[in-house]
Amino acid sequence: MADQYARTGEGRRATGIPVIRWEEPPEGPVLVLLDQTRLPAEEVERVCTDAPALVEAIRSLAVRGAPLLGVAGAYGVALAAARGFDVDEAADALVGARPTAVNLAVGVRRALDAHRAALAGGGGLREAAQAALAAARAMHREDIDASARMAEHGLALLDELLPGGGHRVLTHCNSGALVSGGEGTAFAVALAAHRAGRLRRLWVDETRPLLQGARLTAYEAARHGMAYTLLTDSAAGSLFAAGEVDAVLIGADRIAADGSVANKVGSYPLAVLARYHHVPFVVVAPGTTVDAQTPDGASIEVEQRPGYEVTEIPVPQVPVTGAGGGVPVAPLGTQAYNPAFDVTPPKLVTAIVTEEGAVSPVTAEALAELCGGSRRP
Ligand code: MRU
Repeated sequence: MADQYARTGEGRRATGIPVIRWEEPPEGPVLVLLDQTRLPAEEVERVCTDAPALVEAIRSLAVRGAPLLGVAGAYGVALAAARGFDVDEAADALVGARPTAVNLAVGVRRALDAHRAALAGGGGLREAAQAALAAARAMHREDIDASARMAEHGLALLDELLPGGGHRVLTHCNSGALVSGGEGTAFAVALAAHRAGRLRRLWVDETRPLLQGARLTAYEAARHGMAYTLLTDSAAGSLFAAGEVDAVLIGADRIAADGSVANKVGSYPLAVLARYHHVPFVVVAPGTTVDAQTPDGASIEVEQRPGYEVTEIPVPQVPVTGAGGGVPVAPLGTQAYNPAFDVTPPKLVTAIVTEEGAVSPVTAEALAELCGGSRRP
């Protein structure tokens, strides 16, 4: 098994098992996912034998986080091709599974283009399927590399912004190894600071309603032996007021051409707090998250999730979505407002870090230069 990971670049991540891997048992190729809805209680794998199973895994957040959605989308097309399903239909279903993280569409498109190019070049269905898989594997490897480079650039920026060292960093949602082939985006920067002995504390927002901070980021931080403290999202204000936050580090699901940042709901209030308290608000994301074809924040489609995610508290031992399954905390029939993401305008963002470096201040021109133009397929 170790050889297989070395060959494909699919390393073991924060958990004992890889977050995503391609396997070819005699019954046919499968995509194996770490089921993130079951963390931190248990590390359970989910095996997808076709694109609809992957679509369901994406919708239920068994596999999640922008960069990983890109990799999963590419493997999804490869899976459909290898199993002889309609590749275009699979691609449409995958792209439609979650609308906000642009990486998903980028990954799907990349594998689809490779498939089409192979057919156009005179290859058969087998060659086309192999081309799609090669594209997915390349994307996976690139994501691992991008993670490492974001951590490097992000730590350099953090040291520059906070010359005193001993950083106390607040983060939201989960942006670590569970969202990436590598060590992640914003979390990877905090981890690099920890390894360099310069992270004094990682403040982890619990991230209601699905608790990615409590369930996933705290899980990763604990495994790395980082000094971390969990707080409810609504406690962030008093933490800033007490002068306990030196910087905010978050990931992104989509960055519009003007530098507007869509990320997990609750990010925007943190940006407002950070500005009021003169604390840097830094966004860390791969270039695949920057979408030159989305001009501004108002153009970003924000995913709306089911109300029961708010009216019930998820129980970690059971999947967090799907007809409830959690503990009700509101009267039966209560309506809920449940956007999965919010949008932070560029003027509240101190810097955006990608694998290519950092931009600060955040302007459309600086971002376009950093990303070399459009990253969209
Ligand atoms: O709904 P999720 O859990 O997929 O949301 C994930 C986030 O909002 C992350 O912060 C984002 O994908 C950036 S991590 C690279």
